[in-house]
Amino acid sequence: MDGEEFRHWSRRAADWGADYRAGLRDRPVRAQTAPGEIAARIAASPPEEPEAMEAIFQSFEADILPGMTHWQHPRFFAYFPANAAPVSVVAEYLVSAMAAQCMLWQTSPAATELEGRVTDWFRQAIGLPAEFSGTLQDTASSATLAAVLTLRERALGWRGNSKGLSGQPRLRVYCSGEVHTSIDRAVWFAGLGADNLVRIPIEGPGRAMNPQALQAAITADREAGYLPAGIIACVGGTGCGGRDDIRAVAEIAAREDLYLHVDAAWAGSAMICPEFRELWDGVEGADSIVINPHKWLGAQFDCTVQFLRDPSQQVRALAIRPEYLKTSGQDEITNYSEWSVVLGRRFRALKLWFLMRAHGLTGLREMIRNHVAWSVELAQKLGGEPDFEIITEPMLSLFTFRYSPAHLSGDEEAIAAANRALLEAINADGRIYLTQTLVDGRFVLRFQAGQFETTRDDVMLAFDVITGLARKAG
Ligand SMILES: Cc1ncc(COP(=O)(O)O)c(C=O)c1O
Repeated sequence: MDGEEFRHWSRRAADWGADYRAGLRDRPVRAQTAPGEIAARIAASPPEEPEAMEAIFQSFEADILPGMTHWQHPRFFAYFPANAAPVSVVAEYLVSAMAAQCMLWQTSPAATELEGRVTDWFRQAIGLPAEFSGTLQDTASSATLAAVLTLRERALGWRGNSKGLSGQPRLRVYCSGEVHTSIDRAVWFAGLGADNLVRIPIEGPGRAMNPQALQAAITADREAGYLPAGIIACVGGTGCGGRDDIRAVAEIAAREDLYLHVDAAWAGSAMICPEFRELWDGVEGADSIVINPHKWLGAQFDCTVQFLRDPSQQVRALAIRPEYLKTSGQDEITNYSEWSVVLGRRFRALKLWFLMRAHGLTGLREMIRNHVAWSVELAQKLGGEPDFEIITEPMLSLFTFRYSPAHLSGDEEAIAAANRALLEAINADGRIYLTQTLVDGRFVLRFQAGQFETTRDDVMLAFDVITGLARKAG
């Protein structure tokens, strides 16, 4: 591809992107293809000869697009969002054109220096104290892994990396059952063992770890010869938005000298609105906090911010300085790859910078407040229907519910089967997209609003789709 062709196809791609986003409401949200259907359309072996771009582009539209689930669809109400404001997509075009690998300060000083600035903007926007330093990670999963490796090394007197875990005391980490599975995997990958991730019972509508039970588990573990190492708290658990009492947990962490990592991957973006900050009251007591602007702030995937009270601990756990990565004469600069599990780094700061400048905090707050208000309105409307139950009340823009008509009353298996069938009918219908979870063993449907272009009408259409399809099935 020569320069002129590159210009032509870049423009085609940009035009395509704008048309795609404008036409999303006319597409089914979830891909409607059967397993293997897309693979069957793709040649089984690679082409020996070059193909024309026109043909490649056409097969993208004909063969690939039908198998896409449209995450930017305004009626994507499944999982958590991965909302990408158009302006962050524009920034990504630029990042993609430069294609820089920003692992060290000197491999692109602007990427490092903008990362420092823009994470500090975000820190101010969510009201965290100035003692926190931010860095951009690819995902919350790898930020959490970095935190767990740090808490492991800290507890082992920084000997785990050199000596290995055999012969070391058995470390313990504490969390509730509401945390995302990235916590389990971080504990596995850090070599601590799933059996040493201690689940603390939950209480109250927030489904928070019971602080007395947490304290009792730590005390009992010390008496039994284990070495408590850290606590992982959540604000906005994935299933139904569980949130720990961060102040109470932080007090225990401080008293017991344990590392505290807070997973606010989804809910953290809402902290740009001061009125929601009570949900993570006490967060300044954390050592590490993870938030995904790629979930709800509008930063195109991927873009995770990790805030650290003392980054030198994470650097001590993760940094390695072979000769080929040294930056001669520049000892005082920051190399953010030393803050992460992976070495290579995309230039993620640019899209956060574009996003925050183009929308301002005012625009971003309005988006989040609208999502919360519309979800609350939908939950109230659905909860007012005689054949629907709200199972967990809205936590920000997430709530869970189920269909439970009078004729199925008391028959839990039949209610679960009806809700499984309803979910499938909703997603096959295509106007909206929902997913499910279990709440205290009950199969329930989740609703969250978080797409950048979602309107109140989109949310209200969900009411018609859900109730209409439920009653049609009976
Ligand atoms: C609460 C929570 N934490 C962590 C994650 C993992 O996020 P990521 O995909 O960025 O690793 C998720 C994903 O949905 C989540 O909901």
